[in-house]
Amino acid sequence: MQAVLWRRYGPPESLTLGEVPMPHPGQGEIRIRVHATTVTSGDARLRGCRGAGLFWLPLRLAFGLFQPRHPIPGMEFAGEVEALGPGVTSFALGERVFGLAPRGAHAEYLTMPADGCVARQPTTLTHAEAAALPFGALTALIFLRDVAQIRTGERLLVHGAAGAVGVHVVQLARYFGLEVTAVASARHAALLRGLGAAHVLDRATQDFTLGERRHDVVLDAVGGTSPQRARRVLAPRGRHVFVNFGARELAQMLWTRLRPGPRVLCGYAGGSQADLLTLRDLAEAGALRPVIGQEMPLARIAEAHALVDSGQKCGALVLRVVPPVIPA
Ligand SMILES: NC(=O)c1ccc[n+]([C@@H]2O[C@H](COP(=O)([O-])OP(=O)(O)OC[C@H]3O[C@@H](n4cnc5c(N)ncnc54)[C@H](OP(=O)(O)O)[C@@H]3O)[C@@H](O)[C@H]2O)c1
Repeated sequence: MQAVLWRRYGPPESLTLGEVPMPHPGQGEIRIRVHATTVTSGDARLRGCRGAGLFWLPLRLAFGLFQPRHPIPGMEFAGEVEALGPGVTSFALGERVFGLAPRGAHAEYLTMPADGCVARQPTTLTHAEAAALPFGALTALIFLRDVAQIRTGERLLVHGAAGAVGVHVVQLARYFGLEVTAVASARHAALLRGLGAAHVLDRATQDFTLGERRHDVVLDAVGGTSPQRARRVLAPRGRHVFVNFGARELAQMLWTRLRPGPRVLCGYAGGSQADLLTLRDLAEAGALRPVIGQEMPLARIAEAHALVDSGQKCGALVLRVVPPVIPA
């Protein structure tokens, strides 16, 4: 089968397309014919193991100390169940599924545990749309529900609102009854209003820390906001949540636990089947819609990574593995 090959940590060009043996589903696993996958900010970060700061060593220990241990990258996918391993009864052959694999999604076929982060696709979505959902939406759900512990009626400001995480934070926060202020480049204003943001600030010309409005939660989806400055627009018991964080934010999280006033919070988003099912239901109910900024064939993998590196990605960047069938 064709797959993206990840032989060394490096720039986008270090990824190439090649032939590898077909994977076989083991006990409790399914094999998925991948129709669409994505390049996420997580894929780009792992590719070069760059910007990892204090996570450099844990990442290298998890993914390979000197070179990637697993030769195929990629996490998000949508496709069809093509083979069942022994003991699998929860999926049927031909069923359309989507999810988040630990690795190996940038390929024509992927095997993963049937009880992993995989579920039947929302019936309302195409393969490309379904592939655009899990990474950003799972992260948004976990950070809003478990890290920020949001409550209906609160005011939330999201910085980096047009990224894969941000577009889902806007939609889920709105769904849970929060008033959302989105901070992003001006070109994304109409999109963010359409997703449910009550207010949109242009990050190039409007400093959100100088605003009059007080927020219960400032959620920084991309990094770079300052807790000292954000305090000005946070409620007395507000939370400043970092999705992308390093040693400085972790130290601030500990420091703000010890004193009164707004808290700094960091966290980690895994991916469970139960949370994916919640998001599937929300998508089917029309409460959550995927945002695809760019779409290209798998063969343009290096170009896709360069685009993610540029910080210009909006929503998800989808890679087509199987070309869509155009109706006659
Ligand atoms: N802790 C966890 O478990 C976890 C889980 C998932 C992701 N993450 C991290 O979360 C971060 C965001 O992920 P993502 O997938 O949403 O990223 P993304 O899709 O690549 O974000 C792209 C967006 O970021 C905005 N942006 C770029 N540079 C910016 C800057 N200097 N200041 C403000 N906004 C900027 C751009 O918006 P505009 O064009 O509108 O400016 C762009 O639309 C990544 O660093 C990722 O590693 C962490």
